[in-house]
Amino acid sequence: MAHGPYAIAKEDGVIFIENACPGDELELEIYDQRKDFAYAHIIELLEASELRAPEPPCKIHKICGSCQWQHIQYDEQLKFKQQNLTDLIPGVETPAIVGMDEPWNFRNKITYPVEVVGKTGRVKAGYFKRNSNELINVKHCPIQYSIFDEIMDALKEQMSTRGYPDKLIRHIMLRSNIDQSEILLCVVLRESMLDKEFRNKLRVDLNKIQEKFPQIVTTSINYNDLSTNVILGQKTEVHNGPGYITETFGGIKLEISTTSFFQVNTKQFLKIVEQIKSAILRTLSEEKGTSGSHKLLDLYCGIGTISLSLAKAIPELDITGIELVESAVENAKKNAEINQISTAKFIHGKVEDLASPEPSAQSPQPYDIVIVNPPRKGCTNKVLNDLGQLKFKQLIYVSCNPSTLARDAKHLEQFGFKIQSLQGFDMFPHSFHFETLAVLTRE
Ligand SMILES: C[S@@+](CC[C@H](N)C(=O)[O-])C[C@H]1O[C@@H](n2cnc3c(N)ncnc32)[C@H](O)[C@@H]1O
Repeated sequence: MAHGPYAIAKEDGVIFIENACPGDELELEIYDQRKDFAYAHIIELLEASELRAPEPPCKIHKICGSCQWQHIQYDEQLKFKQQNLTDLIPGVETPAIVGMDEPWNFRNKITYPVEVVGKTGRVKAGYFKRNSNELINVKHCPIQYSIFDEIMDALKEQMSTRGYPDKLIRHIMLRSNIDQSEILLCVVLRESMLDKEFRNKLRVDLNKIQEKFPQIVTTSINYNDLSTNVILGQKTEVHNGPGYITETFGGIKLEISTTSFFQVNTKQFLKIVEQIKSAILRTLSEEKGTSGSHKLLDLYCGIGTISLSLAKAIPELDITGIELVESAVENAKKNAEINQISTAKFIHGKVEDLASPEPSAQSPQPYDIVIVNPPRKGCTNKVLNDLGQLKFKQLIYVSCNPSTLARDAKHLEQFGFKIQSLQGFDMFPHSFHFETLAVLTRE
């Protein structure tokens, strides 16, 4: 398996095949021939690999853009992810990837694109077909919390009678806490298409769905008129409720607002945070004798999930978190308050501007430990070069993309950083994605 949706066959070059499994015997049709490689469709599965999952539970898994590996047995998916990680970052001893005991119903958030069909006004919502913008009207998705199927079904039915025009509603987002006692519903709209009539209809719909599902504690409307693929716009209105849901994560309470980032697989992220704690405790015990607090910088800190979990467990840490999204920083500050944590502070801004090697009032250097948890594209060169100049020994890199982690770790070698340990975590079963925790150190 490539680190992507394709299995690889080799014959006079490389052939990438979707929905194939290593060990299959296949009849293929090449649909895109390049110089050294080609893409092919399966015409016939002549003999199925014994690594195939006997009956993937999702009827649309072969076409849905969300799960690319559902046709492979879960244990084998884990082995392929492990192989992807060691291929991308060779030469580091890597323990087996941490999988899920029950790799279904794990997603705590969905964001469905929406379409209104022709004159019937029927509302469709779900996922796009792979490599296309054709929308599949998803009725059941086995990787998400099952309550989302019920809510989306009821909402779509309700909305289908209202005559909403197509393109007014861009997305519907649902996010839940782990025990599913609090759910947040957000409708993303094109504000330029919203008149009084539809505003009223939408209010009725949001009220009705909340009556039907009292666990929906917050309903909100987000406005996005941009023609990009960024889902959420800058403006959010809370229609009803406090504007957030409350999660209990390990020993801490977290408020999560509509536009703030929160990891989609709560159970697996808890395991990652536990390993981060262990790595830091090991470092602190090795440095016994250094008195006073240890300064930790948490870059791309979101709502403070990592910072506050560490602050609660390790009181001698003095933590500074930096985050770009304002609602997330507000959540982080409030979350520190709720948990009576005074050793973590949070700053709103770009890591590129605020993680500078120049000491400043906001940046109480020197740091002992830095954590980075960037988006999929990884850290920019500016951030990596600044990290190189900052004086600290241990860098904990939490990555949802092993390719950019490999690139960034290579860049950091010039500053003396070496990967000391590497551990994969399967946060996204049935897709090719996974999370990696890398601990880098320098003398
Ligand atoms: C993968 S999330 C990690 C969040 C957090 N560590 C957690 O586990 O919940 C990446 C975060 O980086 C933020 N972000 C993206 N680019 C940024 C930048 N240039 N400066 C600061 N924060 C940024 C995003 O808003 C998001 O909250």
